Amino acid sequence: MSAQTPLRVFVTRRLPREGMELLQRAAICTVSVWDSDEPVPRAELLKGVEGAHGLLCLLSDRIDTEVLDAAGPSLKVISTLSVGFDHLAIDEIKKRGIRVGYTPDVLTDATAELTVALLLATARRLPEGIQEVKSGGWSTWKPLWLCGYGLSGSTVGVIGLGRIGLAIARRLKPFGVKRLLYSGRQPKPQAQEVDGEYVPLDTLLCESDFVVVSCALTPDTQGLCNKAFFSKMKNTAVFINTSRGAVVNQEDLFEALSTGLIAAAGLDVTTPEPLPTDHPLLTLKNCVVLPHIGSATYSTRGIMAQLAANNLLAGLTGDAMPSELKM
Ligand code: NDP
Ligand code: DGY
Repeated sequence: MSAQTPLRVFVTRRLPREGMELLQRAAICTVSVWDSDEPVPRAELLKGVEGAHGLLCLLSDRIDTEVLDAAGPSLKVISTLSVGFDHLAIDEIKKRGIRVGYTPDVLTDATAELTVALLLATARRLPEGIQEVKSGGWSTWKPLWLCGYGLSGSTVGVIGLGRIGLAIARRLKPFGVKRLLYSGRQPKPQAQEVDGEYVPLDTLLCESDFVVVSCALTPDTQGLCNKAFFSKMKNTAVFINTSRGAVVNQEDLFEALSTGLIAAAGLDVTTPEPLPTDHPLLTLKNCVVLPHIGSATYSTRGIMAQLAANNLLAGLTGDAMPSELKM
């Protein structure tokens, strides 16, 4: 690259102030932003990346060969405002020698907190209860009305005891959880901290009262939660997913919830996002769906934006990134 060529970056969404300020102050590059809270249309993304040296994207932007080709050989760094990177064509990115920055750790607490909130809301039927209060369905105190399931004395199974999985386990244990099971590709030494027992997935499904999915979306985990999966769960068990929607086969989940194969489900992530308002899952009282808000605290999003901006800038100058994805 000649000294005269100004570095150019494309940012696919309006970012929290903490990130925008860092980029605007950086003297090393010019920044074009898709200055909206809504996703950049595909055609604008392809136009925006043309000849860019850096790309700051979101989990809703599919960064595939078409985008990489549109960017061309100038593209040196992709920084995503997320810890999940299933929206990036990693093999192709690696082949082209493009570096990738992401945002692990800084969102772990917020996401674990939301997972616990979703689990409790689903197990104790909070949305149903709120609806009954508002609609006049609350006639009197009734012994068996709006009963749910409690954590005390329960067995919790975590699928994918990574950063967020462990943080969820840490938060759930003090509720009196008796056994903490986990499954994944290999046992984790850090599981000791929560007395986690590494078990085969089938054992986790048969024995858990709460099944919590916090693994990454990979070819191995895509569609993992299907008919066979739900059939192995207790019919009193509660299923929670805060990882990615595509880990779940939603037709099979609907079937499992509507036939009483499992008790309830809480989802922060779906396929597609947003979930259409006429989706069958939204007709079920025993399914609580949130709009992908795991990391949505003001401070977490500010720190994520800062980290994503710093990753991008370091990638442009060839310096060590604060959080670079090892590919
Ligand atoms: P980590 O990489 O720390 O954890 C992912 C875990 O998934 C690892 O423990 C990994 O195990 C495990 N895993 C991989 N393959 C499998 C498999 N086949 N079966 C079971 N487990 C598997 O990532 P984080 O904990 O930081 O984040 C996890 C995911 O959470 C992200 O990828 C993202 O999709 C989602 N997320 C969702 C948010 C939301 O808003 N709802 C917010 C933030 C993240 P191993 O180490 O053995 O590979
Ligand atoms: C991620 O970071 O992967 C989440 O889904 C959004 O924070």
